Amino acid sequence: MALKITVIGTGYLGATHAAAMAEMGFEVLGLDVVPEKVELLASGRVPMYEPGLEELLAKHVAGLEGSTGRLRFTTSWEEVGAFGDVHFVCVNTPQKHGEYGCDMSYVDAAFASLAAVAREGSLVVGKSTVPVGSAERLAATLPAGVDLAWNPEFLREGFAVQDTLHPDRIVVGVSGDGAGRAEKLLREVYAVPVGEGSPFVVGDFPTAELVKTAANSFLATKISFINAMAEICEAAGGDVVKLAEAIGHDERIGNKFLRAGVGFGGGCLPKDIRAFMARAGELGVDQALTFLREIDSINMRRRGQMVEMAREAVGGSFLGRRVAVLGAAFKPDSDDVRDSPALNVAGQIHLQGGQVTVYDPKGMDNARKVFPTLAYADSALEAVRGADVVLHLTEWREFRELDPAELAAVASSPVVLDGRNALDGERWRAAGWTYRAMGRPRA
Ligand code: UGA
Repeated sequence: MALKITVIGTGYLGATHAAAMAEMGFEVLGLDVVPEKVELLASGRVPMYEPGLEELLAKHVAGLEGSTGRLRFTTSWEEVGAFGDVHFVCVNTPQKHGEYGCDMSYVDAAFASLAAVAREGSLVVGKSTVPVGSAERLAATLPAGVDLAWNPEFLREGFAVQDTLHPDRIVVGVSGDGAGRAEKLLREVYAVPVGEGSPFVVGDFPTAELVKTAANSFLATKISFINAMAEICEAAGGDVVKLAEAIGHDERIGNKFLRAGVGFGGGCLPKDIRAFMARAGELGVDQALTFLREIDSINMRRRGQMVEMAREAVGGSFLGRRVAVLGAAFKPDSDDVRDSPALNVAGQIHLQGGQVTVYDPKGMDNARKVFPTLAYADSALEAVRGADVVLHLTEWREFRELDPAELAAVASSPVVLDGRNALDGERWRAAGWTYRAMGRPRA
């Protein structure tokens, strides 16, 4: 009999994981405590923009024409308990208000509800990003006969479907008497990707939890490293893009995650490094992660630097100046605006008296909710119309494909600041623009 899988929490992680499990051939039941989300997913729609996810849901959600019917959604814990052989907990762990630590209340609530309904012999698998030590604590809350494994997730927004179906590694933490059985069950769950060559790494609880925060900290460090080099390049007249290209040829360094600009944002990297620092403090080893404070500071400084570049471009003051901001999402191919550098810069300029108009291909609705006082345009062209300066802050393909000549004709002053080092500066200059980018010479 094929394993029956439940997925608790249907955000980016849970919705994608549930659909991917159905794609791998399992019967899947997704649970969310928000009835509207369940209704939306049950009709095959997704509450966020994630390429390929709606197609995967259409293929598997029960009741949709031509679907396999393997994927259903519910709000009922009893149904989840009766159904599942393996329960994946995918709820989020946001940063606590006013603190560095992460808010475990959704995870704790999910475990409490599961503990009350999970069948003997079933396996609970934690996927949420949690402070190290959580798995051991949570295992003790489960009834006898229900085991726990920790299985962090490494999907990137914008590539969630691909990353979930073809993970570059599967990390599993197990512990105690049930360790062997838990590993066996998870090898069964991930038989398809493992068969395709995904490495399957088994460790203990703390190691599995740490792999996730260590990976995100390393990625954040790489980005802040190159942004620190951008600061040096700006002072010394160097070109950070060339520098990144050149050091990236060294295989030990690698060329990925070395794009300098306004830095990292989103629902993961910023809060994960902060929660990691908080946890190190609790463990009495805060010095080990003091460097992450600097990583965070470098990152936040880039946003301020972008504001300064824009201020200089409009003659020293934003008062009465029109600023076009291209991008609101924290990265392209996503509508997620959580801790978005683009919106942060837009907000700062607005608060300093600038008239800011934002355009983003997918992030407009979410941006409006967070910053209702900014102006929003329906297209890049409309955002740029009458602008004294244009800021490119999220590197959507749509922006790279814009016609700089067409935009130059409507801008009040053709000055573009590339906060992502992603536009073709030569093309923009040829169309009459003053093109400036972060960490690069003025040309
Ligand atoms: C990140 C990790 O990459 C995933 O592996 C992880 O699973 C996920 O967090 C998570 O913890 O759930 P994500 O937040 O989707 O994924 O975004 P990234 O692709 O990592 O980008 C993060 C930020 O860094 C974006 O704002 C992006 O614009 C910025 N970035 C990225 C740079 O500024 N420069 C780069 O070279 C790369």
